[in-house]
Amino acid sequence: MRVAFVSLLAASAVLTAGCGAVGHLGDHSGDPAKGKPAFVTSCGGCHVLAAAGTQGTTGPDLDAAFGPDRCQGFKESTIRDVVRGQIAYAESDTGTGNPGMPPNLVNGQTAKDVSAYVASVAGINGTAAAHTGPYWDCATGAEVTG
Ligand code: HEC
Repeated sequence: MRVAFVSLLAASAVLTAGCGAVGHLGDHSGDPAKGKPAFVTSCGGCHVLAAAGTQGTTGPDLDAAFGPDRCQGFKESTIRDVVRGQIAYAESDTGTGNPGMPPNLVNGQTAKDVSAYVASVAGINGTAAAHTGPYWDCATGAEVTG
């Protein structure tokens, strides 16, 4: 029974890959430690992310983008999927004259690692038990320089 279940999963993974969609990322599908340097290299030039120490301003501040979501109770796994989706389906032509974000700046395992990393640190709630460095305070709705 277990063998059949595993091969069904493998088949659906192949189908998902075949049509180019990105699937749900499980809790251990990405390694945040590997994602951090990849984020700094591939994303940090356009995005502020306090934990990574990046200062790019072409794209939105990712602490400000995900802090309010965390305060509303979004799970880390949801944020991970949002980030992975943005990497795959980003639009470099926004049609507004504003610069966009090129799709698939990172791929495969690196995309999973980057998504896991961003989800683990972006807009971390100040009321959470442990945090190091700057964090998002749900009570005031503002970033606190930790
Ligand atoms: C060339 C600049 C540029 C680079 C490099 C870049 N981004 Fe972006 N990013 C943008 C812009 C501009 C937007 C807003 C427009 C859009 O949504 O496409 C954006 C939007 C996003 C959003 C959505 C934020 C929200 O408010 O919902 C996420 C998440 C994101 N980027 C993550 C990443 C990650 C992860 C990387 C690296 C793999 C990356 N970005 C690299 C420019 C960039």
